[in-house]
Amino acid sequence: MSIRINDVAPDFTAESTAGTIKFHDWLGDSYAIIFSHPRDFTPVCTTEFGAVAQLAGEFAKRNTKVIGVSVDAVEDHLKWKRDIEAFSGSPADFPIIDDTSLTVAKAYDMLPAEFYLPVEGRTPANTATVRTVYIIGPDKKVRLTMTYPMSVGRNFAEILRALDAVQATDGVPLATPANWVPGQDVIVALSLNNEQAAAKYGDLDIKLPYLRFAKAPK
Ligand code: BEZ
Repeated sequence: MSIRINDVAPDFTAESTAGTIKFHDWLGDSYAIIFSHPRDFTPVCTTEFGAVAQLAGEFAKRNTKVIGVSVDAVEDHLKWKRDIEAFSGSPADFPIIDDTSLTVAKAYDMLPAEFYLPVEGRTPANTATVRTVYIIGPDKKVRLTMTYPMSVGRNFAEILRALDAVQATDGVPLATPANWVPGQDVIVALSLNNEQAAAKYGDLDIKLPYLRFAKAPK
């Protein structure tokens, strides 16, 4: 079954480039991004992991741990890490899970439809994971999911922006509008009337009775 927003992220224990990881323990009080990629030593994946390596400081500022997954073994991940670092010019110190057992890929619905063919129809290509991203909150619940096909590299600036939006609206009666970026106004939820909204968030910019902007709290 697919994982939905607000589901508890499946827990697992797996080997990784940073040793054995018990996922929920590893998460601690942080946000986390778990993201799958098809295979080590492939071109698009190398650019993606390089992008994540370059953004390490940005994720840390947001109290967010990042962890990669693919169906390759730790020894391959460790060799491939050298290529990622050479390509990106940044240390790739986030863990990469050894999911040769497909445990994580199955729990997180990271496999393409072709994987579910009869066994004789399986090839290395259809046991490769697609490009799935989950943002998980400190309460271990899924906040955001996205899935890209193997041929399309993800935009990690957008993932960072989405993380900012998730954190700006987590547990408060606020939402972010289309194309929002940090620093822009946010939308006040309809659960607050105008008086309550103004008392909580200051002056409102009321565009429509149901579309009311306020300055994002610092
Ligand atoms: C890649 O990362 O370049 C890739 C991996 C699997 C299928 C297609 C592209």
